[in-house]
Amino acid sequence: MKLVLASKNQKKLKEMQEILNQLGIEVCLQSEVGVDVDVEETGATFEENSLLKASAVMKASGLPAIADDSGLCVDALNGAPGVYSARYGGEGLDDTGRYRLLLENMRGLGPRTAKFVSVITCCFPNGDVLTARGECPGTIAFAPQGEGGFGYDPVFWLPERKKTFAQLSAEEKNAISHRGKALEIFREKLTQYLK
Ligand code: IMP
Repeated sequence: MKLVLASKNQKKLKEMQEILNQLGIEVCLQSEVGVDVDVEETGATFEENSLLKASAVMKASGLPAIADDSGLCVDALNGAPGVYSARYGGEGLDDTGRYRLLLENMRGLGPRTAKFVSVITCCFPNGDVLTARGECPGTIAFAPQGEGGFGYDPVFWLPERKKTFAQLSAEEKNAISHRGKALEIFREKLTQYLK
């Protein structure tokens, strides 16, 4: 089975391929099926944005499409950056600029508890929709550590492992991450759906 990924984020594609390929599911970029859709993420929740992306790419390609909408929710910031994680601080910032801004905005605040959230949505051309949500709790580190992963990984601290997400191997991260958990739930739902 082939699913078109509604994203241009190569690192997200790689993480999703690593997990879904094990299940015999091929994931390809929209560009590989001749589609170039840039969906405006106007939803107020991860669920809404995930559905917006998967549905737009399914309609444009005529193929089953999968989307992940994810982000970091920090308790002391009332859940920010949340659905705005990719746009935190505006267009001019890159991943490093965004996590530096987060550390800056966290200065003097407590507690530093946070969670990553991922909502996976798969839209089929017949109108059927499958959704799965995964969460991973952690805290915000005081300084970045590690070179792996992407986004806020260098500042997402896992107290039990005494490491940030960026210090884990891809396999270690996938085993506990929000996206890994959402994909595991998605895998179960897809297996039931295909029966
Ligand atoms: P999306 O592509 O609109 O879902 O944006 C998700 C954003 O949340 C990314 O650009 C990252 O900033 C952040 N994010 C989501 N998942 C992760 C992760 O696994 N590690 C680090 N940052 C993440």
